Amino acid sequence: MSTTSKVKFYRGGDLPLELHKVRVVQKLHLVPIERRLEAMKEAGFNTFRLSTKDVFLDMLTDSGTNAMSDNQLAAMMHADDAYAGSQSFERLQKAVLDVLGKKYLLPVHQGRAAENVICRTFVKPGNVIPMNYHFTTTLAHIQENGGRVVELLHDHATELKSEHPFKGNMDIEKLENCINEVGVENIPFIRMEASTNLIGGQPFSMANLMDVRRIADKYGIMLVLDASLIGENAYLIKQREDNWKENSMGEILKMMTGLADLVYFSARKLSSSRGGGICTNQRALYAKMEAMIPLYEGFLTYGGISVREIEAMTVGLYESLDETMISQSPNFIKYLVEELEKRGVPMVTPPGVLGAHVDAMKFCEHIPQEEYPAGALAAALYICSGIRGMERGTVSSVRDENGNEILADVELLRLAVPRRVFTLSQINYVIDRVDWLYQNRKLIGGLKFVYEPPVLRFFMGGLEPKTNWPARLLEKFRKDFGDSL
Ligand code: F0G
Repeated sequence: MSTTSKVKFYRGGDLPLELHKVRVVQKLHLVPIERRLEAMKEAGFNTFRLSTKDVFLDMLTDSGTNAMSDNQLAAMMHADDAYAGSQSFERLQKAVLDVLGKKYLLPVHQGRAAENVICRTFVKPGNVIPMNYHFTTTLAHIQENGGRVVELLHDHATELKSEHPFKGNMDIEKLENCINEVGVENIPFIRMEASTNLIGGQPFSMANLMDVRRIADKYGIMLVLDASLIGENAYLIKQREDNWKENSMGEILKMMTGLADLVYFSARKLSSSRGGGICTNQRALYAKMEAMIPLYEGFLTYGGISVREIEAMTVGLYESLDETMISQSPNFIKYLVEELEKRGVPMVTPPGVLGAHVDAMKFCEHIPQEEYPAGALAAALYICSGIRGMERGTVSSVRDENGNEILADVELLRLAVPRRVFTLSQINYVIDRVDWLYQNRKLIGGLKFVYEPPVLRFFMGGLEPKTNWPARLLEKFRKDFGDSL
C-alpha cells in the first residue's frame, strides 16, 4: 500500500491527494477588495497586523496553524492537570525518547523560549555561532547575549532557481575555516536548522549532517539541532537521498537527532499548536539549563505549556512518524510551485517545505530592494485576493550598529501551507490570483517604514506605500474581475 499522499492521474502527472477527511470546519470570510485595501492600510502594510476577520486564506505561517488530528483532540481530554509531576509530561518524555531518541527533556512555551534558554546558558559576549542559516528569533537571541552568527551555506544555496536537492547543507570547508579563524574557544556550539526556513524551507542531507558531526567531534564543539521542521526534512531525505530511501521515517528521525548533542524545537510546527522543548542524552547539558525553566517558563513538568497541549504534542510526535501526515503539505507545496512556474512566476526551487516561496526580487524587478519588494508583494497579493502571506526579506532583516539597512540575501514572499488545512481548490485559487498579479506586477510599488521597532521589526512595524499604487491595483482588479470579490 502506498504511504504517500500523491497518486498518479490515469493520463500521467501527480495528483496531491488528501488522505484525511474534514470533520470540523471553520467558516472563512472573503471580504471585498475595497475592504481589503482599507484593512491593509489599517495594518500598516504589514500582513502580521491584519485581523483574521479580513483574511480569506491565511498563509502567513504553519506555526500553530497545522490541523489537529482526532487523536490529538481526544488525548487532550485526558490531560493530567497537576503543577508538578503531571503524567501528561511523563507521556511526553516517553514520546521524545521514542521518536527523537533523547532521554532528558526541558519543556518550554515555544521555540524561541528554547533559544532564550540555550543562548543565555552557552553564548557569551564575543562568541561566534556557525550555522547553515539563521532564523529570525535565533539571531535575535544570539545577539541579545553578545554573540555573532556566521552563515555557512554552500554558495549555490541562495540561488533561488536550482536543482540542488539539499540547499540547506552546510559548507564543510567553510566550517573548518571558520573554526580555525575564530578559535574553538570562541564557538560554544554549531547550529544546524532542519528545513532551513528563511531560504525557502530547504532541507539538508543526512550525509551533510554526518560531516558536520565529524567536524564537531574533531574540534570538540557541541552540535545543536533546531528540529522545528525535522519531520519535513526527514521526509525529503527519504525522497531525495539514495542511501535513505528504504528507511522508515522513525529511523531517519532518530539518526538525525542522534547526531546532535542538543535538540530543540518549536512544537507549534513540529507536533502541535503550542509548546516547545530542549532535549539531550547528556545529563551535564541538561543540568546546565535546568534552573532556567522554573525561572522563565514554568515548573519542570509543564514549562509554560498547558497540560492539554502537552498531550497533543505527545500524539503529534508519534504522528510525525506517519509519512501520509508529513507528506501532505510538501506535496501541496510542490503542486503550487510547479503550477506557478508553468505560468512564468519566479519561484524558489526545488519546492521546499512549510510553504511555497515566490522570488520577490524577480517578481518586482522594478522595485529597489531598499523599498522592500517582498513586503510590497505580500501587501499587493493580500489586496487582490485576501491571501495573507509573509514577507521574508529585508523587512525581516535588521539594521547594523550604525543604523544602516542590511539588505537581505533573498527577498521572498512565503505562502505557508500548514498541514492538512487547505483544499486543492483553495490552492487553485492561490495559483489564479498570483498568476493575475504577476501579469499586473508593474502596478505594484515600493514601501517605506513609518514605524520601526528596534527588535524583530517585521512583527509590528508599520509601512506605507511610496506612491498611490494600491489604488491603481484595485482599479485594475475591478476592470478584470467585475464585481467579483
Ligand atoms: N526555529 C525555526 C526553524 C522556526 O521556524 C521557528 C518559528 C522558531 C525556531 C521559533 O519558534 O515561533 O515557536 O517561537 N517559525 C515560525 C514561522 C514563527 O512562521 O516560520 P516559535
